[in-house]
Amino acid sequence: MANEVNENAPANSLDMVPVYIMGKLYYVPPGSTIMGALEYAGYQIKRGAGCREGFCGACATVYRTPDSYKIQYGLACQTVVMPDMYLAQIPFFPAVKKTYDIDELEPNDEVLSNIYPEINRCVGCNTCTKSCPQELDVMDYIQAALRGEIEKVAHLSFDCIMCGLCAARCPAEIVHYNVGILARRLYGKYLVKKGEYLPKRLSELKDGKFDKPMKEIMGLSREELIKRYYDREINFKIA
Ligand code: FES
Repeated sequence: MANEVNENAPANSLDMVPVYIMGKLYYVPPGSTIMGALEYAGYQIKRGAGCREGFCGACATVYRTPDSYKIQYGLACQTVVMPDMYLAQIPFFPAVKKTYDIDELEPNDEVLSNIYPEINRCVGCNTCTKSCPQELDVMDYIQAALRGEIEKVAHLSFDCIMCGLCAARCPAEIVHYNVGILARRLYGKYLVKKGEYLPKRLSELKDGKFDKPMKEIMGLSREELIKRYYDREINFKIA
């Protein structure tokens, strides 16, 4: 249900920002994200939202502004509303995701282009890179995929949140993020040197070393969990 009071507010009232949702005018607080604006207007988001902090990639969205024919794009939880922004539901973008058995693949030069031959259609327009909210060099990793450089694709796509905005914008209908995750799976399974700590940690898990702390975590409130998450010690470095 829409927020009736809000919907009828004058344009300059309390410096609210006018936005159109499904063709109806609403006024939302300045600084609202698209997701916040939808909720402020009374829409309940049941799908297409996850972390709300720009990490999970669930909220990729497109919108228009009255001065441009362009479809613009962003994460709904991160993109701040602009005056007269138009928001509407659109059907999902079809994204090719091949089925494969990672145990039966070989990490060779052709594996990526054999499974996703559409990467050969890349025209080098760089739209994928420009659309990435993570600022990844998406086109570069597709070019690396064409050269069969699995490790490079894995590294360049490491921070991908699978939101799909790259694929939504690609004129060659490449689904970059699925190419990236295949490379990361191949890299993790076949190419990266195995950490010595892994068998040790697995046997500790098997022996129940973490059962007690796990039980304690499961019993925490949401607030305590959030606090623990932000207070956590990060003990690795990203080069
Ligand atoms: S809700 Fe997770 S990235 Fe927006």
